[in-house]
Amino acid sequence: MVSSLATTVLIILCGALYACSTPLSSRQVESGHGILSAPTSGIVVAQGSSFPFEFRDSNWCEDGYSPIAVWLTDYAPSASSLNSTGQFAEGGYTYYFGSYLIPNFGLPVLSGSIPPPSSLVFPVSSDLSAGDEVYLAVVETGNNCPPGLNVPPQYELSSISMTVG
Ligand SMILES: *[C@@H]1O[C@H](CO)[C@@H](O)[C@H](O)[C@H]1NC(C)=O
Repeated sequence: MVSSLATTVLIILCGALYACSTPLSSRQVESGHGILSAPTSGIVVAQGSSFPFEFRDSNWCEDGYSPIAVWLTDYAPSASSLNSTGQFAEGGYTYYFGSYLIPNFGLPVLSGSIPPPSSLVFPVSSDLSAGDEVYLAVVETGNNCPPGLNVPPQYELSSISMTVG
């Protein structure tokens, strides 16, 4: 109720101000509204070991399904680390874990999609040594919001630090 009211207000504002009908920049990145509840920040994980993974999407677009992509970087990532398609460019990441689709509102897993796993395996890489600080980064994509305005995908970045064991 509250959120549909908010959407309505936004659409009215867009109509009144015209601003929203001009194309938005192709990369809309918000930072950190999803919650990485696992692993805990600063966790020490050995190369090749698995660690728990749990991400609660913010789903600010109120999509039925929210795509996320999970990456590892060797620097603290920020919105400007992402390219126009919401990905870390070649050379800008250490490891790509994969893409997953989160069902929202209690919906069933969408056929052909992979929901986020409850654990991930830390990569083995000659670029990593024990004691290195790295970052687990989750990019969530919001589609088609506000609805009906043909807005390009928007991205949100959440990250936490990890230490190579
Ligand atoms: C963004 O980065 C991804 C992954 O590194 C790459 O495959 C894609 O081509 C890049 N997109 C653009 C528009 O540069």
